[in-house]
Amino acid sequence: MARKTVLVTGGAGYIGSHTCVELLNAGFPVVVLDNFRNSHPEAIERVRKLAAGSLKLVTGDVCDSACLERLFAEESIAAVIHFAGLKAVGESVAKPELYYRVNVGGTLTLIEAMLKAQCSRFVFSSSATVYGDPQEVPVPENARFAPESPYGASKAMVERVLTDVAKANPSWRVALLRYFNPVGAHVSGEIGEDPLGPPDNLFPYVAQVAVGKREYLTIHGNDYPTRDGTGERDYIHVVDLARGHVAALDHLDELHAATAINLGRGIGGTVMEVLRAFEKACGHPIKHVVGPRRPGDVARYFADPAQAEKLLGWRAEFDIERACADTWRWQSRYPDGFRTR
Ligand SMILES: NC(=O)c1ccc[n+]([C@@H]2O[C@H](COP(=O)([O-])OP(=O)(O)OC[C@H]3O[C@@H](n4cnc5c(N)ncnc54)[C@H](O)[C@@H]3O)[C@@H](O)[C@H]2O)c1
Repeated sequence: MARKTVLVTGGAGYIGSHTCVELLNAGFPVVVLDNFRNSHPEAIERVRKLAAGSLKLVTGDVCDSACLERLFAEESIAAVIHFAGLKAVGESVAKPELYYRVNVGGTLTLIEAMLKAQCSRFVFSSSATVYGDPQEVPVPENARFAPESPYGASKAMVERVLTDVAKANPSWRVALLRYFNPVGAHVSGEIGEDPLGPPDNLFPYVAQVAVGKREYLTIHGNDYPTRDGTGERDYIHVVDLARGHVAALDHLDELHAATAINLGRGIGGTVMEVLRAFEKACGHPIKHVVGPRRPGDVARYFADPAQAEKLLGWRAEFDIERACADTWRWQSRYPDGFRTR
């Protein structure tokens, strides 16, 4: 059966670009909307080289209602995957109004355009940050909501908005996908994470030390109650995550109204394990120092991914070693990301 067109907001970004590849491979025509605030148009060119099929690019802002109305009038959009937004936790503390404007306001603008165009299928990029400091691990979907930053709160608010919209419009089906820690890159080494400033996350930081762009990695605490004393997180390969979105689209009609689903491996990896796996991938030692714990960090954090398997028939395939090998291929080939000459 012919696949229908999917609008991917933020499709030039890290997770969006990998998802576009998987959507095209699965036969979905794709329209990307992106304002390139945190990405590069070259990412779209690379996606075009990696996967055949129809990929249109609209340069625009998800907060611009006229742009969205035009887009829905011109394209026959059957479903939306909404990645576009801001994601730096620290910046969200400094500029909460910006995060609520883009993340919550942008989603509202998108929902209004969808209601007008009678498009009722929505896949949302939520985050495990909605749980805050978890009371139990693995973290199930019905764990307490306790976001600790404006970023996390903006995700929780959007989940609430989408839940209410789905209640008011019984034809709507919404998947609220709560990602754990996306890492890795496409196996080709042609697309990957391309942070504009100093990376916030462990993987891109280790990769930049490995390639010589940064001097050393600071491990924030090695006295946690974990296997080796360093923090443990649920690192999920970005291609697994991308395939989770294809599975969500395929099962959206069977879901009840708005349904929250964790996307994680359900297995934790420690900072030390990531470091060792990365050293193996790049073939040389990675300089690191141990510093004090960071306020707000928890010892262990990983998903209960059972719901994703039950509802979407999806489970993660790739391990940390594979994620490190793919990240290294991307980082060593393109040390300055999409700006590499
Ligand atoms: N990467 C993670 O660790 C992680 C974890 C959980 C959830 N998420 C969520 O997943 C989504 C994608 O994350 P990512 O890591 O790919 O981030 P990213 O910054 O690489 O991608 C976001 C994309 O959205 C675009 N964008 C931003 N504001 C926009 C706007 N107003 N209009 C149009 N486009 C806009 C950016 O240019 C970028 O291409 C985000 O919503 C993020 O909050 C990410």
